[in-house]
Amino acid sequence: MTRAMARATTRAMTRLALAALLALAACDNGDATPDWSRMITQPKLLPYGESDLFADQRAMRPVPAGTVARGWIADPARRTGRTAAGDVAEIPLPVTRALLDRGRRRFAIVCATCHGTAGDGDSAVARNMQRRRPPSLYEPRIIALAPGALYRVIADGYGLMPSYAKLLEPDDRWAVIAYVRTLELSRTARLDALPPQIRDEATRALPGGLPGGRP
Ligand code: HEC
Repeated sequence: MTRAMARATTRAMTRLALAALLALAACDNGDATPDWSRMITQPKLLPYGESDLFADQRAMRPVPAGTVARGWIADPARRTGRTAAGDVAEIPLPVTRALLDRGRRRFAIVCATCHGTAGDGDSAVARNMQRRRPPSLYEPRIIALAPGALYRVIADGYGLMPSYAKLLEPDDRWAVIAYVRTLELSRTARLDALPPQIRDEATRALPGGLPGGRP
């Protein structure tokens, strides 16, 4: 074989190898069912099976004492909204700007569809609800509810309102409650309770006077 022939053969073989690689990459086994048989038949311990490895002959090991699930909240008041004395009377988390922002976002996603973005019970869903409209969260009876009572409404549901426990984990519920309290305050704060500068701003923003002749 001449040197030129040898070079040509090498080039041809390289091309072939490349083509084979491309073909392999293209089929990638994408649609074919993987072969699970080895995993299915491999020796392994099933949860409720027996095992000689341990003195109690159980394959499944008992949970070590003191183990807690991830995300478990040890404080029952913070976890359930209740104590032996009744509904939790104070939000059991520091009410920070970050908590309120979180509450505002979760409220907009989870509650506003029914209770309205402003919480006043005006929403497309509410207008079309036949049996019982979602109430305005500014009803005096609802304003008077303790944070723990609101927590239970969110966690357990209330009448026709379903539970939102799956969408809001405990601390998110408190964030929503803190935001609901902020919304309520936005409608019930007294002008004379505001710092002077904000009071002046508020008065200027309401040229027609305050609704309902509130002081
Ligand atoms: C699917 C619509 C819907 C969504 C979403 C919804 N609610 Fe309600 N909510 C209702 C309805 C309807 C009622 C009235 C239930 C009844 O009286 O049977 C109600 C009642 C309430 C009450 C009054 C409970 C009482 O004691 O009278 C509160 C407070 C409340 N909702 C808060 C919330 C909060 C906070 C969220 C978000 C986490 C939320 N709701 C999400 C429909 C909804």
